[in-house]
Amino acid sequence: MTGISSPDPLKFAFAVKSAPHASRGGSHPLNLTPQQWQTWWASPTSATQRALYIHLPFCRKRCSFCNFFENGSNPARISHYVKSLSTQLNIASKTPFVQSGEFDTIYVGGGTPTDMQASEIAIIGETIQAFPLAKNAEITLEGRINGFTNAKFDAALESGFNRFSFGVQSFNTQVRLAAGRFDNRETLIERLQELSQHPSASIVADLIFGLPGQTMEIWQQDLQDVIQSGVHGVDLYQLIGLQGTRLSNQAQKEKDRNKPTHKETSKQTLTPAVDSQTRASMYATGASLLESSDWQRLSSCHWSRDSRERSIYNSLAKSGIEILPFGAGAGGNIHGHGIMNGRDLSLWHQAQSQVTESGTVADTLPSQVPGMVMSPNPSAALDSQFKAGLDSGALDLSEFNTELINHLMPLFYAWQTHGLVKLSHTIMTQTLAGRFWNVNLQTGLFAYLKQNPFQPCAN
Ligand SMILES: C[S@@+](CC[C@H](N)C(=O)[O-])C[C@H]1O[C@@H](n2cnc3c(N)ncnc32)[C@H](O)[C@@H]1O
Ligand code: SF4
Repeated sequence: MTGISSPDPLKFAFAVKSAPHASRGGSHPLNLTPQQWQTWWASPTSATQRALYIHLPFCRKRCSFCNFFENGSNPARISHYVKSLSTQLNIASKTPFVQSGEFDTIYVGGGTPTDMQASEIAIIGETIQAFPLAKNAEITLEGRINGFTNAKFDAALESGFNRFSFGVQSFNTQVRLAAGRFDNRETLIERLQELSQHPSASIVADLIFGLPGQTMEIWQQDLQDVIQSGVHGVDLYQLIGLQGTRLSNQAQKEKDRNKPTHKETSKQTLTPAVDSQTRASMYATGASLLESSDWQRLSSCHWSRDSRERSIYNSLAKSGIEILPFGAGAGGNIHGHGIMNGRDLSLWHQAQSQVTESGTVADTLPSQVPGMVMSPNPSAALDSQFKAGLDSGALDLSEFNTELINHLMPLFYAWQTHGLVKLSHTIMTQTLAGRFWNVNLQTGLFAYLKQNPFQPCAN
């Protein structure tokens, strides 16, 4: 949890990124009765900031590194889904719960929402407009460049989307091919340049560092390319060995066979995955190049070129705001309860057609879909404050209970000794190494509190 002492903490403070996200539990699964579900939608929110998350669980191809793939992008299947989804959104938008507070940010994510037809994108965009939206609310459509035609862009803009987040991963054509991506470098740069010329929409590109075959030289070119593409925001994600991906299955097979981790696959040679130290250097190279080109760091992994890119969804989601989830596989939280809708598409559809006790299909209440509902977590607000702070690169210690901060000081001093943070009177600022290892710091903080429970003085 403290990291280890090393002359080069960026590369060696921890062995590996602990997990994609940190959490310390604190809640348990609940059986939500239909009565309670009904009460939720009839009661006003107590949240001051809110988001809407709409999930489109379809992709045309399974990329080698990703485990978000859920269902193939079959046009009839998407059309059926969009119809049910918009019905649910329309019903929800009229409930007292939804109408009781504004939404600051909406995220239509996946999967690959840009695989919808232009008319379907418009349906979702127009349905979102029925929600009480904050002035200048951020409305994001996620997806990929391939197949994102001008007709889709226009339909999205006309129906209210103002932010577009595209997975690019790498511009290098060979790396892309090995990862199962469509399109070559030139096509991507050209299309991103076109889209970025829009006078107000924010165009964002996700890059991954550490993909097989992606050398430091290729990564530097990726960074140059993303800057040259004219996008307004960029995410630099470290490759995480997610279970169930083609990459981790290959790695496991090779480990089992006790062979080196490179393998011939249908004419493509995958070089070994990039080691953790090289990934750390890649992060440093990315941060330094973007910041020396006047990009602003909005979080440990997200930078903006200008003020049109705000990344509201990502930053608010980390601070634990209310997120209403819609769609199979969507996650969020309602009235302080964590929600994870089940991924099974047919079960999700079945729930839409369920008949109420009175014999009619409910049309004043969104369907309760299969999934997991969690009890409210008593430490949720505090945990989110720590997570959001560490993700942003600094913790404002004055915002926390002084006793709690004193309780955590041994951990913070250890982080400082290990080159991960710098402590001043009221702020703990992460070094570049601390930003790279920020999820390990979050995990470490929660582990520390578990081992050393905080008991405030009773007076
Ligand atoms: C849910 S995916 C949707 C992206 C979009 N469908 C596409 O194909 O580009 C969102 C982002 O997660 C990131 N991601 C997926 N798998 C990852 C992994 N194993 N490690 C790090 N980032 C990953 C990618 O950068 C991706 O753009
Ligand atoms: S990166 Fe995108 S297209 Fe590829 S599997 Fe993941 S969600 Fe689907």
